[in-house]
Amino acid sequence: MPTLAPAPAVTQRTVPAPSTRPAAGLDLPSVAFFGRSLAEYVQFFALDLVALKGRDVLDVAAGPSSFTAEACARRIDAVAVDPLYGSPVTTLAAQVQLDYARMFDQMRAKRRLFRFRSFPSFDAAEADRRAAAQRFIADYDTHFAHGRYVGGVLPRLPFFDGTFDLVLCAHLLFTYAQRFDYDWHLAACRELVRVSANDVRLHPICGADGKPYPGLPRLRRDLAAVGISSQIVGVDYEFFAGANAMLVLRRAQT
Ligand SMILES: C[S@@+](CC[C@H](N)C(=O)[O-])C[C@H]1O[C@@H](n2cnc3c(N)ncnc32)[C@H](O)[C@@H]1O
Repeated sequence: MPTLAPAPAVTQRTVPAPSTRPAAGLDLPSVAFFGRSLAEYVQFFALDLVALKGRDVLDVAAGPSSFTAEACARRIDAVAVDPLYGSPVTTLAAQVQLDYARMFDQMRAKRRLFRFRSFPSFDAAEADRRAAAQRFIADYDTHFAHGRYVGGVLPRLPFFDGTFDLVLCAHLLFTYAQRFDYDWHLAACRELVRVSANDVRLHPICGADGKPYPGLPRLRRDLAAVGISSQIVGVDYEFFAGANAMLVLRRAQT
C-alpha cells in the first residue's frame, strides 16, 4: 500500500455552474457520484490486466466505481481517491441511490446522445453500473480502514511523487468543463503526472455535449512547455456519443 504524503491545504477552484444548460448535451449541474465496473475501465482505458498484476494503480475521482475492488481481487495494487471518501458508507450508499436515479432518468430521456456499442440497452448499462456500485459499497465498508480508499480533491493529491505505475482518471476532467475552469484542468493534469511514475490516462476527452474539450490544444501545448507529453488515443468503446478516446500523459524523459 503506498505511503500517504501529508495532506496539503486544498482549494478547489471551480467556476459556478451556468444557469443555462448546454444546448445539446447532458445536464450536469453537479458532479455525480456515479461509477463503472472494471470491465468498462478495461475498454475505455485499453488496460492490459495481466500486465498490471503486482503494479500500483491509482484511480482518481473514482466515485462508486468497482474498478479498485475488482482490480485488488486480481492482485493489482489499486488505490482509489475521491472527495467523498471518508464519509460513512450509509451516506455513500444514499448518494448512489440519488445520483443513479437522476442519471438514468436523464440518459433515457436523451437517447440520441448514446451509442449502443458497449451496452445493448440502457437496462443493461444500468444493471451493470448498479452492480458496480454495490460491489464498491461492500469493498469500501471493508477496506476503507486499510487505506484502499483515500479522501482527496484535485488538483492536490495526498501522495508522494511517482508513487504509482499507472494513474487513471475517468469522467471528471473535460466531462465537467462547465464547472472547472482551464487553470484547474492544467493544474489537475500536472498533479496526476506528479504522482505517476509512468502513464496517466484520462477518459473521455469530450464534454457533456460530446464534443472534444475546446481547451485541449492549449492544454497540450501548456503541458508540453512543462515537459509533459500528451497523446490522444482512440479506444474500442463508446456509450455516450463522442466518448471514444483517452488522453495519455507522460513526463518527458530528461
Ligand atoms: C462521474 S464520477 C466518475 C467515477 C469513475 N471515475 C467512473 O468513471 O466511473 C466523478 C467523481 O469525481 C469526484 N470529484 C468531484 N470533484 C472532484 C475533484 N476536485 N477531485 C477529485 N474528484 C472529484 C466525485 O465525487 C465523483 O465521485
